[in-house]
Amino acid sequence: MSLANRDLLGIEDLDSDDIYRILDTARAFKEVSKRRIKKVPSLRGRTILNAFFEASTRTRVSFELASKRLSADAVNISSSGSSVSKGESLLDTAQTLDAMQADAVVLRHSESGAPHYLAGRIKARIINAGDGQHEHPTQALLDLCTIRERFPKLDGLDVAIIGDIKHSRVARSDLVAMRKLGMNVRLAGPQTLLPRDVARAYGCEVCDSVEEALEGAHVVVALRLQRERMKSGFLPTLQEYAIEFGINRHRLQKTHSDAILLHPGPVNRGIELSNDLVNGDRSVILDQVENGVAVRAAVLYLILGGDAL
Ligand code: CP
Repeated sequence: MSLANRDLLGIEDLDSDDIYRILDTARAFKEVSKRRIKKVPSLRGRTILNAFFEASTRTRVSFELASKRLSADAVNISSSGSSVSKGESLLDTAQTLDAMQADAVVLRHSESGAPHYLAGRIKARIINAGDGQHEHPTQALLDLCTIRERFPKLDGLDVAIIGDIKHSRVARSDLVAMRKLGMNVRLAGPQTLLPRDVARAYGCEVCDSVEEALEGAHVVVALRLQRERMKSGFLPTLQEYAIEFGINRHRLQKTHSDAILLHPGPVNRGIELSNDLVNGDRSVILDQVENGVAVRAAVLYLILGGDAL
């Protein structure tokens, strides 16, 4: 089924054909990003409103850049400085933006399900840019895009996802997408941050140690500790987390000889990853950022039914 005129609420709503269509289109947009004039007229005259009610650097900037590279008109809204700070509800805010003839609303929100709540209540297409601890679909797509550049055949790859899986919308979107594409996913992290029901539901293996998860892995995804979503009691101390679950050069030796290291950012250096690994030869963290622009351009282009590239 075409992606045109659909919302993107989560990876759950995509099938493997949809995912590969987005990844293939992102490849073409990556080429546009390398040109001296980084712009195509595909979405000229369309209006994209980026409503970010939670902090973001990568996602917000890359959606804005992607919109501009497609020649769309992009407007950014955040809680501070908008009438949300005066108590306006999410639906009233969205209907206000809709009345300005937005074609798409890109929404980041701290509440899981916020984009689903708006879908169908406004005319504009809704694109989920991260909702609470639920999903972050474009992050999973850019992760797959980055992995595919190093390993063209995704089916059968072994992936280790390490850390705060419970609170991570990146982990959920990643593991759902990876399982849809036939990748093998192993999870490791503190027991309190390792939801076994999610692992079971998607056929992921739960490992007793980071070392077990890393053994022979082609891809390692280290997750940010979502301290803003933790009530007390999930972790003893950050130092203890770093000792038991932090990824360092020694632990990375357990992986496949061509293994790559991903992290959605922002990184807590010295906690999830040792400092030397962040910009080391296995790290593809900045490739993820670069691919974020191309993937978000592909999503906007396919959903808004842009003209030929
Ligand atoms: N990966 C990610 O969502 O980063 P930002 O919070 O900076 O957008």
